[in-house]
Amino acid sequence: MSNQPYFNNEDSNTSANTHFDSVLSARLSRRNLLRGSASVAGVGALGSAAALGGCATFSPVSPVNTLGFAPVAKTMADQVSVPAGYTARVICALGDPLNAATPAYKNDGTDTDFGNRAGDHHDGIEWFGLDASGQASDTFSSRGLLAMNHEATTDEKLSSFFIHANGGTSTLPRPAAEIDKELMIHGIAVVEVQTDGKAWAAKPGSAFNRRVTTMTPTVIHGPARGSEHLVTKYSADGTQARGTLNNCGTGRTPWGTFISGEENWFGYFFRDAKDDDARKKDKQVQALNRYGRKAGAASRHGWESGGASDTYARWNNSAIGASAKDDFRNEMNTFGYIVEIDPYDKSQALRKRSALGRLGHENATFARVSAGQPVVAYMGDDSRGEYIYKFVSDAKWDTADAKPGNRLAAGDKYLDKGTLYVARFKDDGSGEWIKLSMDNPVIANSSYFEFKNDADIAIFTRLAADAVGATKMDRPEWAGVNPKNGEVYITLTNNSNRTPASADAANPRSYTDLKAGKEQKGNVNGHIVRLAEKNPADAAFQWDIYLFGAQADADRSTINLSNLSDENDLSSPDGLVFSKATGVCWIQTDDGAYTDTTNCMLLAALPGQRGDGGSKALKHGERTVTTHVGKPQTPATLKRFLVGPKGAEITGITETPDGRAIFVNIQHAGENTKMADVNDPSKFESQWPSNAGYGAGRRPRSATIVITKNDGGVIGS
Ligand code: FEO
Ligand code: CA
Ligand code: CA
Ligand code: CA
Repeated sequence: MSNQPYFNNEDSNTSANTHFDSVLSARLSRRNLLRGSASVAGVGALGSAAALGGCATFSPVSPVNTLGFAPVAKTMADQVSVPAGYTARVICALGDPLNAATPAYKNDGTDTDFGNRAGDHHDGIEWFGLDASGQASDTFSSRGLLAMNHEATTDEKLSSFFIHANGGTSTLPRPAAEIDKELMIHGIAVVEVQTDGKAWAAKPGSAFNRRVTTMTPTVIHGPARGSEHLVTKYSADGTQARGTLNNCGTGRTPWGTFISGEENWFGYFFRDAKDDDARKKDKQVQALNRYGRKAGAASRHGWESGGASDTYARWNNSAIGASAKDDFRNEMNTFGYIVEIDPYDKSQALRKRSALGRLGHENATFARVSAGQPVVAYMGDDSRGEYIYKFVSDAKWDTADAKPGNRLAAGDKYLDKGTLYVARFKDDGSGEWIKLSMDNPVIANSSYFEFKNDADIAIFTRLAADAVGATKMDRPEWAGVNPKNGEVYITLTNNSNRTPASADAANPRSYTDLKAGKEQKGNVNGHIVRLAEKNPADAAFQWDIYLFGAQADADRSTINLSNLSDENDLSSPDGLVFSKATGVCWIQTDDGAYTDTTNCMLLAALPGQRGDGGSKALKHGERTVTTHVGKPQTPATLKRFLVGPKGAEITGITETPDGRAIFVNIQHAGENTKMADVNDPSKFESQWPSNAGYGAGRRPRSATIVITKNDGGVIGS
């Protein structure tokens, strides 16, 4: 997501949870060529065995033990910069046709038919291989499907202005024709890609290509299915919903499907100023406020203003009809889930996996699976002061499910029944996962919110986590599992609300930084926390802070605690993905703090293990906060691999099983362009990727790039 203040950083956790409240503790103890020379990327169809999908003893196919590339310098150039010896090419940008009948993208605001084009704001991305005959393959590396999220749009004053001819309409009501385009550029895409051994390209005519949008029929699964709180005019029995929205991080299940997190969905809904009164004693008033939609809140795009049709009316989340069956008062409750699709089978509807909770979901990443053990997934809720969660399945892993006959049926088996936990971090470097279910008496007997059943916990998850005293974190983003040792890494991107008074061991920094002479406060540059568990299903963990984001020139005893230097300094870590091919930990940034010096970036890391550093005492006035810091970094363990174009965030990353190609998403280049300048390219913040020779028009576009090594080698080696 963008770091622009209007778009994110929803801030509605007003619960009393601070850090280690002693009363709660007592209660809880109960229980196209962008850069580089001509490329001859020798990416062959190497059928080497990559154990994608995970197993208890995982070893990478092509382990990288030394980061063999020269670091990319910080830069504000409007281009994608990669190391010498590498080539990056655009292969799929906003508006590119996904079928043969849709015309090429003109990129001047007149294009239509977005349901058959790549969407906007490319985010998380996952590789799903195909063999030569078009069957699913975990080993083929020359043909596959890229399943990716289209999170949001570049907008100002209601309008996604780069897709409208003159920037669109910034007052209410908005024209239906503009809204119709915006509804279709959000969601998910599946795009087939292939290499001939020289260059990768998307296949616009592939029968696998698919779009899922805000309008696609979906099915509710898990404990929330059939809840009274999911009843809408569209689904009187609360089992169906429409569309997916603000899809951020992604994951790949051990059974070979694609999952996607619905993140900042609440901002798309309107609530009438009198809606609290209209709902009288409805407990949802508390939940609506907790999830960031106060009565009278304007929506991000004004989609509710497009006309009487339900296509538009559904974005008005107010209680205006005789009952929930007559309006869309519950429409928001149908968003905020981890959703699952089978990327190989577009005939099957998207499933919303409510057992994994309703949050501002970033991604979900799976622990290594072991036969006879539960399947475990880790998740962050990305808003200031939100929590870290894990899900433990009831069903025990059957290794035959690594290649199931029906992938979504395997999803039903592992993701519809299980237990959700939320994390509480303790000062001493330990932590506990607290159960969110009706058999936790703190929830069943809660005076904070009325939980009647597990459906209420699945839908009002943040309130359940408040009730049990979870630890408020500095905006949890992606989670990743180190294939070498199973440790879990979670990025905490930044938190402008963290103060010296609220700093705790797991969120220990609050400081002042200057950006172009202006003061920024809080945890300005973010950090990455690391958890170690004896077994993934355990209720206990040990933690430390693997990495603190900082400027290289920041004080090394108070801010730059990981010893970052010009080769690897970063701000606001967001994407974090471990390569199964090489073991490299890829870290991506979504920064607004260090952007007076450098555009956002992708770094490669060779992390150690929890506890490889030591304790560190940080002074906050009279208070001393002692935290646990990983080993200091050097350019040998952390190195900048890519810097993106102006205004862009570096979002998803995935790879071929042989590790010889990576696919990286570049989101919202040029997002600081003014809507008034939409037809004046000289005033665009960015003209990428047209300035790299890709596509028509000069309006900036979010895009997927593919990166190969010119000698055909393994990426990062
Ligand atoms: Fe969509 Fe939390 O980034
Ligand atoms: Ca600064
Ligand atoms: Ca993100
Ligand atoms: Ca972010």
